[in-house]
Amino acid sequence: MNYYIGIDLGTSSVKLMLTAKDGSIANTKSYEYPVRYPNPGWSEQSPEDWWDAVVKGIPELIADIDVSCIKGIGVAGQMHGCVILDSSDSVIRPAILWNDGRTAKQTEYLNMVIGEDKISKYTANIAFAGFTAPKILWLRECEPDNFSKINKIMLPKDYINYRLTGVHACDYSDASGMLLLDVSNKCWSEEMLSLCGIDKKQMPQLFESFDCIGTVLPSVAKQLGLPDGVRVAAGAGDNAAAAIGTGTVGNGKCNISLGTSGTVFISSDSFTLPDSHAIHSFAHADGGFHLMGCILSAASCNKWFCEQILGTNDYASVEKTADLEKSAKNSLFFLPYLMGERSPINDTDATGMFIGLRPDTTRADMFTAVLEGVSFAIRDNMEIAKKLGIKIEESGICGGGSKSGLWKRMLSSVLNIRLCVPVSEEGPGYGGAILSMIAAGEYESVAECVGRFTSVSETVCPDEKLVPLYEEKYNKFKKVYPAVRQLYKDIKE
Ligand code: XUL
Repeated sequence: MNYYIGIDLGTSSVKLMLTAKDGSIANTKSYEYPVRYPNPGWSEQSPEDWWDAVVKGIPELIADIDVSCIKGIGVAGQMHGCVILDSSDSVIRPAILWNDGRTAKQTEYLNMVIGEDKISKYTANIAFAGFTAPKILWLRECEPDNFSKINKIMLPKDYINYRLTGVHACDYSDASGMLLLDVSNKCWSEEMLSLCGIDKKQMPQLFESFDCIGTVLPSVAKQLGLPDGVRVAAGAGDNAAAAIGTGTVGNGKCNISLGTSGTVFISSDSFTLPDSHAIHSFAHADGGFHLMGCILSAASCNKWFCEQILGTNDYASVEKTADLEKSAKNSLFFLPYLMGERSPINDTDATGMFIGLRPDTTRADMFTAVLEGVSFAIRDNMEIAKKLGIKIEESGICGGGSKSGLWKRMLSSVLNIRLCVPVSEEGPGYGGAILSMIAAGEYESVAECVGRFTSVSETVCPDEKLVPLYEEKYNKFKKVYPAVRQLYKDIKE
């Protein structure tokens, strides 16, 4: 039986998945690496840490199979990160990640001085602080020495692909989030490259996600214990790959991811330029397109509250204390903006906040408010989609947060939609493995694989009692951020 390796290069860890040709999962491994926050609102990682985790993990992942059966690798990666290499292929500085907010000034320049109309004409999107183009402008202004050394610009998963194959490549789904791609025409935007002071020669070659970019270099194959000739797919941004892994392809399908970030992903066969740029218009990994809203802190709020504040990683025990009905009726709110916020408010100054604490507020109340705050922020994005005329009655769900039954029940009731849990909750890694099956010629298309492999293991329906309570609480939640928006600016360091 042939085997395929899916790699999910996440923010807190890399997750490796060994998948057989029939779609069954033979093995998984996960390795953590640190995120560094050198200044408030900044976040960086070392690309070498990512590569070291892959080098450690692949031999352990494939230890129990006949390695000559491994035919392909597909990488899904955290999007928007800026990785820069010099002319000797050394990493110039740590990668600036998707949730880094240092580029407020450059983002404002692109949206206000160049203008949202022009930027969206060039790229189908407006600027958000986490996108790659504002980071390049920041480097040009704040680190001119590093900027002058740039020979290659790449996204996080493309660094892994480059180490694997020596090919400087990028797929359309991930490239969409650079704000350098003309999304509707699937080519680099000359205007954006020139605005950022960079040349096409510094940019990767573009591919569809399921295209084969090359094979693993012989020296690397030896290091990883792989046979010669393993094909590497162009891969995808983690959300597009997760959509493949959860079967979110074709018109109007939806997937929600509760990972470090939270996303609402709506697939489409054709390109659309939404009236509201609060959500993104990107290419999909199946050859089509999608709309996506992204909140910067989702399961990371849960992790922060349990680990940092309550001092435990026993999430199950904390969850047992939660009472959804009680919480849905109270006036305790949490704004989940631990890293500022992307969609829809695009505000790097926003921070996390509780409002409504009283002497009888318990830990359980605060924990439940944290999950509610994230769920309401996801709903903010759903409301934008609704305003665009998109009707969503059900959605797939994946990511670490989707393992919580309590959170799924809450989110289903907050959104008043059904949540369909796929057989594999590890969306991005599974999507990466599927893309590599196509790149290796095992299957014809993404649609064929999705039809064969992806199915629903459980459907969570809105709770009739909770829906009206959450409707009322969401309407109050909506008032909190506008009331403190200016305050965030007044009190920032
Ligand atoms: C999407 C986004 C995040 C990262 C997380 O636009 O920024 O979902 O891809 O890995």
